[in-house]
Amino acid sequence: MKYTDIRGVNASRMIMGCMRIADKPLEQTENLIVEAVRAGVNVFDLADVYAKGDCERVFGVALKDLGLAREEYVVQTKCGIRYADFGKYYDFSREHILTSVENSLKRLNTEYIDVLLLHRPDTLIEPEEVAAAFAKLRAAGKVRAFGVSNASAMQIQALEKCGVDIAVNQMQFSLGHTLLVDAGVNVNTMKDEAVTRAGDALEYCRLKNITLQAWSPLQFGFFGGVFIGNENFPALNAELDRLAEKYNATPAAIACAWILRHPAKMQVVTGTTSPERMRDMCVATEIELTREEWYSLYTATGKGVF
Ligand SMILES: NC(=O)c1ccc[n+]([C@@H]2O[C@H](COP(=O)([O-])OP(=O)(O)OC[C@H]3O[C@@H](n4cnc5c(N)ncnc54)[C@H](OP(=O)(O)O)[C@@H]3O)[C@@H](O)[C@H]2O)c1
Repeated sequence: MKYTDIRGVNASRMIMGCMRIADKPLEQTENLIVEAVRAGVNVFDLADVYAKGDCERVFGVALKDLGLAREEYVVQTKCGIRYADFGKYYDFSREHILTSVENSLKRLNTEYIDVLLLHRPDTLIEPEEVAAAFAKLRAAGKVRAFGVSNASAMQIQALEKCGVDIAVNQMQFSLGHTLLVDAGVNVNTMKDEAVTRAGDALEYCRLKNITLQAWSPLQFGFFGGVFIGNENFPALNAELDRLAEKYNATPAAIACAWILRHPAKMQVVTGTTSPERMRDMCVATEIELTREEWYSLYTATGKGVF
């Protein structure tokens, strides 16, 4: 396993995402955590809304059962998405942030959250209110570091202007969803890929030492499914298989190694609930794809350089 520094915390480059654990048997989730920890994973990603709080609850129970020392792992969770009769909406108000954290702490059965992320941008945000909520949570020792998710460069700057230190930006990024790099590769061309959809997040985060975390590393579209072994992605799978053989790893590990190879030093937020797949994917941090291999995989997605 390789690690990266997040504001003084030694954080594993592979993160165990906990969005899909709620409906799995507790024993499977505990085995998953054991396998992840054995592979060197020390960061766990959650959100207040995952299975309406059940993922945090299950994780809290599993951690207690396993008896892991609290200071040995990093708990990251998110707030800001709410549900109403009409559907979802976003809420970055001071009151909602504070209430959400209290509820997460109870469900997670912990005294503090290591990293709290604002889940998806609330256009009604008052950055000063967020800053006040974060300052209160930090002073109370309830949250140690803050970040955002799915946020553009300008949205991060609005928070920074109010004195908020943003340590993390979690964005969708994979061989099935390459928007984070597309605009930069195609800048000032007439190609559709030149359109900035990821809000210059890659460039800004690199400039400001904000750790990018890639969510859904194996999915295409918005939860469109897994591209590994998917007949709709023949060129990509041929290249993943070729490199999997070369590096004696699984195609999924190569897909993660592609994310890790980027010099932005991103973390990968895996979503598997299978202990074996978790173990096999963690091998990715030991694989250093060449520049040529990185671009060959990118080209095999149908994007690439002209
Ligand atoms: N910030 C955000 O807005 C946001 C949004 C979505 C997710 N996330 C975070 O990102 C994490 C990962 O998301 P995700 O679950 O969509 O990621 P993913 O790792 O791309 O997908 C995992 C899913 O793919 C399946 N899968 C099929 N073949 C696989 C293979 N060969 N290897 C591994 N998995 C395979 C897994 O099934 P098995 O369980 O059977 O292996 C699981 O259902 C979440 O847990 C959450 O923490 C964040």
